[in-house]
Amino acid sequence: MEQTIQVGLDERSYPIVIGTGIFRRIGTMLHAAGLAKRYAIISDDRVASLYGRQLQEMLHQADLVGELLTFPHGEASKRLDTIEQLASRLAACGFDRKDGLIALGGGVTGDMTGFLAAIYMRGIPFVQIPTSLLAQVDSSVGGKTGVDLPQGKNLLGAFYQPRAVFIDAEVLRTLPREEFLGGMAEVIKYGASIDAEFFAWLDRQREAILALDPSALVPMIRRCCELKAKVVEQDEREGGLRRILNFGHTIGHAVEAASGYRLMHGRAVAIGMRAVAELAARTGMADPSVADSIARLLRAYHLPTDIPPELDRAALRSYLSVDKKTVGGRIFFVLPEQIGRVSITDRVEEADIDAVLNAGCHPC
Ligand code: GLY
Repeated sequence: MEQTIQVGLDERSYPIVIGTGIFRRIGTMLHAAGLAKRYAIISDDRVASLYGRQLQEMLHQADLVGELLTFPHGEASKRLDTIEQLASRLAACGFDRKDGLIALGGGVTGDMTGFLAAIYMRGIPFVQIPTSLLAQVDSSVGGKTGVDLPQGKNLLGAFYQPRAVFIDAEVLRTLPREEFLGGMAEVIKYGASIDAEFFAWLDRQREAILALDPSALVPMIRRCCELKAKVVEQDEREGGLRRILNFGHTIGHAVEAASGYRLMHGRAVAIGMRAVAELAARTGMADPSVADSIARLLRAYHLPTDIPPELDRAALRSYLSVDKKTVGGRIFFVLPEQIGRVSITDRVEEADIDAVLNAGCHPC
């Protein structure tokens, strides 16, 4: 059975439907939503080979049309070129504003499809069917869409909300294990930064979650979506509060970039969360036990907690300075005060930042 959470954004409000077996009922659900009769299903080649035909068939059974448009999998596809190619294919197939897009896949697919939906014919409806844990608990909700530039990730984009999000926990069975664990970093982020009870629950439910038991996965995903929806409802365009969702991402993005994107996003975020917790301890904002608890839970989910010793610290430092979260030359950090509570500050001594970044580096 499914559960529904509403993201309340006035005329841009939408449901997030979460459960198991959603995929098999998706045609009926889309039909009931009444958004469009014809959809372009945007998916990468890998996810399309697993679920593309099945989704087309589900739409067909519900008297809807689904054209499958694919692109090569991977972050390298997340660029303006791909958007232009997809838009040309939409135009060639005669898609207009009465039609809709479906993002079928992980974060790259969701971000690109949302951006395409925002700009194609100045905006057409789109729905998200996220198939990675990261997309299910984070990127499919909240309307951040975009593509990368050679200078950095997500530098071109728009806030554009989906009309619905359909999350089927069963599809996580086909997700590579490393990607599932990477997604767990984003899950732990919610507990560590907003919800101490959830943090403790994640510790207790470790075995069931790692075994992909739906009775643990569904409430886990639902809690993340509830927490994210609450934040987005209060601050859709990241004027303030939404920045707490970047917990672990400021240093995480720099670690990811300094690794030449060889380190997976979730693993980099895990390292970033531990690093800011150490920073909070150094600045006296948090007890050192906070960093220990975060590191312990991350390790319990097989996630790394240390900046790799071989990572070039000068490169890391310079990536940190060009991150989008830098405002007027100051780096804003989301620091934990305790488990479940963070604050945003640009008042961190350079020496403390350097000490945290240089930890474990040999030779420095
Ligand atoms: N992933 C952070 C946000 O959506 O704001």
